[in-house]
Amino acid sequence: MSETDRPFEPRIVAFFCTWCTYTAADLAGISRMQYAPNVRAIRLMCSGRVDPQFVLAAFRDGADGVLIGGCHPGDCHYQEGNVNALRRFELLRRMLRDFGIEEGRVRLEWISAAEGDKVQRVCNEMTERVRALGPLRLEPGPRRRVGVGVVPVGAAEAAAGPAAGEASEPVGVLETEGREAR
Ligand code: FES
Repeated sequence: MSETDRPFEPRIVAFFCTWCTYTAADLAGISRMQYAPNVRAIRLMCSGRVDPQFVLAAFRDGADGVLIGGCHPGDCHYQEGNVNALRRFELLRRMLRDFGIEEGRVRLEWISAAEGDKVQRVCNEMTERVRALGPLRLEPGPRRRVGVGVVPVGAAEAAAGPAAGEASEPVGVLETEGREAR
C-alpha cells in the first residue's frame, strides 16, 4: 500500500512544560490512560519558551497540528511564562491566518501535573480535530514572509521600504520548499 493510499493520520507536535503538562502526560502513561499516538511531545522548561518560530518550523517540517501545554495561570514556575505564552499564542494565530493555516491546527491548554485525564482528552480531541481538517498542504514555492516585526517610522519611509543595506527582520518566516509531499 503506497503512502497516498493509507488513511490520513495527523501528525501533531506538542510543546509541553516539564513542570506540569509533560508530567501529566507521564502520569497518563503510568496510569495506562490511552490517548492517540499521533501526538509527539517535546519537553520544554516552560510554555513561555515556545517561540512562534518553533510552531512555524513544526508545520514546515511536516506537522499537521501543534499543541502547547503549560501550567495553569498563577502556577508557572517562572511566574509569568504562561502569560507570555498566551500573548504569543494570540500573535501566532494571527500569523497562521496570514499563512492560510487554519487556526484549529493550534491549541493552547493549561494542564497541571495531576491532570493526566486532561492530557488524554486534549490529545484525543486535537487528533480528531486535525483529522477532520485533513493534511496540512502548504503551497510550495518561494519563502512567504510576515513582516509584523517591522515598525514603520513614517508614511514615506514605509512606502519606500527599508533603506539600502538595512535588513527588515520579519517575526515569522515559513519556508515551504522543504516540506515533504503527501
Ligand atoms: S513553568 Fe509551566 S508554564 Fe511556566
